[in-house]
Amino acid sequence: MELLSTSARDLERAAEAIRDGLLVAIPTETVYGLGADAWNRVALARVFEAKRRPSFDPLIVHVSEPDGASEVADLSVPYAKTLSERFWPGPLTMVLPKLDRVPDLATSGLPTVAVRCPANAVAREIIRRSGVPVAAPSANPFGYLSPTRAEHVVAQLGGRVDFIVDGGRCPVGVESTVLDLSSEPPLVLRPGGLPVELIAEVVPGVQVFDRATTSPRAPGQLPSHYAPSRPLYLVPFGGVSGIEPRGRAAAICFGAESARAAERHGHWSRIVDLSPSRDAVEAAAALFDALHELDAAGFDELWAERLPDLGLGLAVNDRLYKASVK
Ligand code: TXA
Ligand code: MG
Repeated sequence: MELLSTSARDLERAAEAIRDGLLVAIPTETVYGLGADAWNRVALARVFEAKRRPSFDPLIVHVSEPDGASEVADLSVPYAKTLSERFWPGPLTMVLPKLDRVPDLATSGLPTVAVRCPANAVAREIIRRSGVPVAAPSANPFGYLSPTRAEHVVAQLGGRVDFIVDGGRCPVGVESTVLDLSSEPPLVLRPGGLPVELIAEVVPGVQVFDRATTSPRAPGQLPSHYAPSRPLYLVPFGGVSGIEPRGRAAAICFGAESARAAERHGHWSRIVDLSPSRDAVEAAAALFDALHELDAAGFDELWAERLPDLGLGLAVNDRLYKASVK
């Protein structure tokens, strides 16, 4: 593995590597992705192998310009054009009818393909220079936390990728919102960096996948995703201070008030406040960083409080739920 910078020369090397069928971890505004040429079946197979990902889990295909999506998908379905104009580049992935030329390996044999145009200049420049759409799952081993810094990728996948482009910390910090436009009404399969409230302004009848009443459609909806190696318990908003943890434990709080209550409580070896001012955007940006750090520190237990289910709170709660002990 070789670490690359964001210099023009290194971006050209990253693009060339993708053209050559190699695996390149690239920064996006959400999380780091493990990129490969979406037309190259061998490269796609290597992505699954590197992630130890079951091949039934389809990949997101990334394009450098919103218009590039028409190379892989049919954008004539209702809302697709309007959504792409309004939210791309950005943290929205649209599931659309796929064009025949997209390899089945990218879509796990589904008739649909997930597409997104990321809002990160480095990612877009690499994709543009490579001249191909870039299939990229999050750059973590299957089932583990998504990386929000190049160091996370080095630690988790360093031995299994060819290049890692260090573009610093990912500002959004949670994965994109996955919206299935092939179903009627459109369905949010995964809440993420684009708040569902904003999608609803364009798609009035949009539904949000409900784990309690629906069986998983996308494999990313399996509940045990994004798990740290330490047990994480999820409690309602404001609930951390009522907990009696065992051993050396860490509390993950949302807001200065909760953090102070946890402090007074005295049982915690470590308290992390995802956003003292209770800003869900700030909490999303801090989430995976905090989980990586706490996981590495080897606490016996992690306890996290839910955020209110508004804006990016929905995405943070989804990730915390998936990381938690059921
Ligand atoms: O922010 C992101 O979306 C990041 C960055 C790298 O772009 N990527 C990412 O990819 O999170 P991944 O592979 O970790 O998650 C993709 C999700 C999975 O839950 C997958 O099941 C779903 O998208 N997905 C992909 N193609 C699909 C399809 N055709 N139908 C339904 N779900 C699909
Ligand atoms: Mg992932």
